[in-house]
Amino acid sequence: MSPFLNPNRYRAKKNNYMLMKNLLHIISSPMGNYSHSIQLGNAIIKKLVLKYPGSHITERNLIDDRPPYLDGPQIYASFKDGNNITEEERQKLGYSDTLLSEIRNADVIILGAPMYNFGIHATLKAYIDQIVRLGQTIKYQADGTRIGLLTDKTVYLAITAGGSYNQEFNPVNDYIVNHLTAILKYIGIDDIQPLIIEGTKKPDFKVDYDEICRNI
Ligand SMILES: Cc1cc2nc3c(=O)[nH]c(=O)nc-3n(C[C@H](O)[C@H](O)[C@H](O)COP(=O)(O)O)c2cc1C
Repeated sequence: MSPFLNPNRYRAKKNNYMLMKNLLHIISSPMGNYSHSIQLGNAIIKKLVLKYPGSHITERNLIDDRPPYLDGPQIYASFKDGNNITEEERQKLGYSDTLLSEIRNADVIILGAPMYNFGIHATLKAYIDQIVRLGQTIKYQADGTRIGLLTDKTVYLAITAGGSYNQEFNPVNDYIVNHLTAILKYIGIDDIQPLIIEGTKKPDFKVDYDEICRNI
């Protein structure tokens, strides 16, 4: 029977379109195929694609294409009214504008965050500085209260650290989970799911990425 005449096939296809999500995978590890945060991110995506067939995946690799550091002219341009912006200022905001349309378009964000010197990699900090923007991702209302504008999104944090930590000293929670959670909530994202792999530098280190993603 032609697929066009088969109502079940049509229904299944239609349901898949309804389930499909835009997934954005943000990479900040320089370690390519050896990176545990990238492999964990890929395992998260594998589970999400099973859950939401037909999903579209966008990869933003911050190592291959590094976000610029904020400088004076960009900050000045970002506070200007869009109608009065010069061509030079428009170009200054171009990278940030691209990142903003990409993250706005995403339903689910898989954010890779390897630990470097007790914090996130510098490219991820530069990315954050490009996407937190007044009028674009945060806004002040008439009564002076602030709201985040990126609502209805889920973020999976794919966090990796070479060491293993405990309650007394836990830079993974203190400087990565808490920091990223604060930023994401600031721009309106409340559904934040941290997945963490510690001890990647231990000699006997082994990991089952799929097992870490079992609850997705
Ligand atoms: C320059 C450098 C600094 C690092 N700093 C830390 C650190 O402060 N704490 C820690 O637990 N691991 C640290 N590590 C180990 C990484 O967190 C570990 O290799 C992790 O697997 C990196 O994620 P990735 O595999 O996705 O690249 C560091 C590694 C490098 C190369």
